[in-house]
Amino acid sequence: MIIILLGAPGAGKGTQAAEIIKDFDIVPISTGDLLREEVKKGSDLGINAKTYMDKGELVPDEVILAMLEKRVKAPDCANGFILDGFPRNTAQADMLKELFSNNGMKLDCVVNIAVDKESIVKRLSNRLTCSKCKEGYNRVSKPPKEDGVCDKCGGSLFQRDDDKEATIRNRLNVYDNKTAPLIDYYKKEKLIIDIDGSKGVLDIYSDIKDKLSAFVK
Ligand code: AP5
Repeated sequence: MIIILLGAPGAGKGTQAAEIIKDFDIVPISTGDLLREEVKKGSDLGINAKTYMDKGELVPDEVILAMLEKRVKAPDCANGFILDGFPRNTAQADMLKELFSNNGMKLDCVVNIAVDKESIVKRLSNRLTCSKCKEGYNRVSKPPKEDGVCDKCGGSLFQRDDDKEATIRNRLNVYDNKTAPLIDYYKKEKLIIDIDGSKGVLDIYSDIKDKLSAFVK
């Protein structure tokens, strides 16, 4: 099964991907995480990508596509995968279509998670991530038991560089101008599942699970 998770920054794509993989035997692929790994390594790709990410702008399409193509062809993706954060514009969606057609892959559905903007700003400015195991937290909706420390592995929690209010607002503008048109793009292909992302994490996941199960039957 191959799924795309579509939604504004902070809509809960990564959070829901973590739930989906508990029930469906597929691999989560976040282009944002792949880029952040490159930034951490200090590779040329990472150094270049960081200049866009820090401003909340999209990294150039060719850079992302090369990275994604390598990832989806890895052996662990043979059973299927969840794309979180890709595609981000219609050019990337066209590139993805070509990549799938050249490799005998088929997109099953696109889960579109909708959340209002002010809730998103609140969510992202309070997001924390474990530097060791990558577990996600939120000062408001999912605080760690001990301030700044991961409940699971004891690692230290950090705030992403692009989770500052001005950058969050620019990411939301970029989403409106470049990514939101993908909703119609995939509606035309009859692949969209619409999800209300304003509920609690498990209620949202229950909606996704019901719809996914029916869709991929
Ligand atoms: P990326 O890492 O993809 O970030 P994003 O799309 O901005 O999405 P986020 O990871 O911020 O949010 P999310 O929807 O996963 O929400 P989450 O589950 O964490 O991209 C970062 C940058 O990389 C881009 O700006 C760009 O520069 C570059 N990039 C990446 N892909 C690219 C591409 N394809 N092309 C070009 N450039 C690319 O949840 C957020 C918070 O809310 C968490 O704290 C969570 O605990 C909390 N939360 C989640 N669900 C709920 C809920 N239901 N109720 C309350 N709180 C909740």
